[in-house]
Amino acid sequence: MLRRVMGEHIELRLDLTPDLQRVQTDPAQLHQLNMNLVLNAQDAMPQGGVLTIATANVLLDAGFAQSHPGSQVGPHVRLSIQDTGMGMDSETQVRLFEPFFTTKRPGKGTGLGLSTVYGIVKQNKGYVAVETALGQGTTFKIYFPQSSKTAQETPARDQLAAAQTEARKPSSSRKTKRRSERLHVSLWNAMVTRA
Ligand SMILES: Nc1ncnc2c1ncn2[C@@H]1O[C@H](COP(=O)(O)OP(=O)(O)O)[C@@H](O)[C@H]1O
Ligand SMILES: [Mg+2]
Repeated sequence: MLRRVMGEHIELRLDLTPDLQRVQTDPAQLHQLNMNLVLNAQDAMPQGGVLTIATANVLLDAGFAQSHPGSQVGPHVRLSIQDTGMGMDSETQVRLFEPFFTTKRPGKGTGLGLSTVYGIVKQNKGYVAVETALGQGTTFKIYFPQSSKTAQETPARDQLAAAQTEARKPSSSRKTKRRSERLHVSLWNAMVTRA
């Protein structure tokens, strides 16, 4: 899977908050979620483009919860995955989380990526929002409640610094795979509090 992540024709930008709070979730699940979103972003940019991964601490207030049914008031960690790709028409937008819904050709899409994302988000009491328009790119925003646990072997900012360093390195085809693996590991470690 990782071989396909972040091909050379796609520019990766990171916008990571230095003091990211933790979320309490299974790292493997978070990895899966991110991978599914990154692969979709890549599929949406066959001619290349920009993939932006951003993290932020956000406080969801009553206004947000009201206008985003299913979201909860309180402190959250937000993961945003933005692409400059083809975007989605309204027909796709209403069905994208359905299991087996795909607009990709047979053998290319299974339609299980986003239903899996949705399941992981719900299981962790999170919320997912999608902003997209045909030809205008797509942004997925995933919100997870912040964990009250803080004790960590490695401070989040060290992990984030490592991720930033990886992202800044010029990519070469040989090294792209290992680079994206290191980058992902840094991101997960920065975000997750082990239960
Ligand atoms: N970043 C994106 N840009 C455009 N369309 C997307 C994006 N992510 C998902 N989609 C649409 O949602 C559908 C379902 O996605 P997914 O569940 O991951 O299944 P698959 O990738 O196997 O098609 C895709 O087929 C595509 O039409
Ligand atoms: Mg997919």
